[in-house]
Amino acid sequence: ISLKPYNTFSIPANTHYFVEVLTESALEELLNSKLIKEQPLLILGGGSNLLFTKDFDGLVIKMSIPGISAEVHGETVIVTAGAGVVWNDFVTYCVQNDFAGVENLSLIPGTVGASPIQNIGAYGVELKDVFESCSAYEIATGKRREFSHQDCHFGYRDSIFKNELKGKYIITEVSFRLSRIASINTQYGAIQEELAKRGVSAPTIADVSSVVSHIRVSKLPDPSTIGNAGSFFKNPVIEQQDFLKIFEKFPELVHYPAGNGKVKLAAGWLIEQCGFKGKVVGQTGTWKNQALVLVNHGQASGQEVYSFSENIIDTVEARFGVRLEREVNIL
Ligand code: FAD
Ligand code: EPU
Repeated sequence: ISLKPYNTFSIPANTHYFVEVLTESALEELLNSKLIKEQPLLILGGGSNLLFTKDFDGLVIKMSIPGISAEVHGETVIVTAGAGVVWNDFVTYCVQNDFAGVENLSLIPGTVGASPIQNIGAYGVELKDVFESCSAYEIATGKRREFSHQDCHFGYRDSIFKNELKGKYIITEVSFRLSRIASINTQYGAIQEELAKRGVSAPTIADVSSVVSHIRVSKLPDPSTIGNAGSFFKNPVIEQQDFLKIFEKFPELVHYPAGNGKVKLAAGWLIEQCGFKGKVVGQTGTWKNQALVLVNHGQASGQEVYSFSENIIDTVEARFGVRLEREVNIL
């Protein structure tokens, strides 16, 4: 079975077995089956944060559990969505119902079920700011468990599901704590600029959603026409003393405070400085408007993209002494 339609990088890779899960009871049944015990597993949402470098020799479980419901408690609303709900459909539902909190996360590809895995974030908001809890099944035992906010150990593009519990749980639904009173977050300069351009002085969450979507479309390649998985690397977070050494040599270094005295660097800037922005290498390369995004120009293999990413990591390290870490899951 070809996985090409199931990964936004559009990489041709095959899997032995493929099953789509639409209900929790179907998942329970699957977790009790022989197939589960005998095969390597890959849990798949929208395939927008993956790079296949080879065929997958096992069982792919595509999570497609639907449904959104909301419970209002005064000013707060708890919205619960199935793992298979498309993230942006969930955001649209919230914006249309005036449930504030996720508008800055408009247009991020993928599913609700994957959103806690790397604590998705954009334009000044992270999933952890609105996450209430999630339900997940332990693969080894088939048991259902609730994860509270604290249980998830969220960090920048990080959670327990990428560390201690990597590959151990399947998330079936996620609940979010949203607000019926909007507190608009426009700390990101580009949002303010676009609102000003539109002459909007008292933005609603719908305005913020629209502006964020506009900015994203102008910077990021649309996976339906050019294969990619968003930022390929994380923005490196380094110690103050290491930052100062680099900053002395490169005073234009783009950086932000990252808490605990640490500093976050813009990986896109580091990569651009090494001459990679918009570069085409065979069938792969970086995006012309955003050097942090690696793309498939049509016929790239996963290996080709991976080798190119190695080249970027080594070149950036040689120049700046900072080793980039991949954000995309490599398979
Ligand atoms: P997949 O790619 O299918 O899976 C990702 C990981 O999660 C895999 O390890 C998979 O095994 C695991 N997984 C998926 N679903 C489940 C589940 N139900 N239970 C357990 N494990 C699961 N990310 C950001 O944070 N911010 C951005 O601004 C952003 N912009 C992007 C822009 C573009 C154009 C693209 C293509 C990607 C972007 N991303 C961004 C990355 C991506 O959208 C997120 O990582 C998203 O959460 C991935 O969702 P998915 O359903 O496609 O996950
Ligand atoms: N920059 C460059 N050249 C580039 C790209 C960026 O110099 O080619 C510099 C610019 O100075 C720019 C700064 O880097 O101002 C930051 O760029 P941008 O606002 O595009 O954000 P980013 O840090 O590159 C991060 C996330 C994105 C998220 C945006 C918006 C990571 C790894 N990436 O990108 O998330 O959408 O901020 O908040 O943290 C993703 O995870 O897939 C993703 C797209």
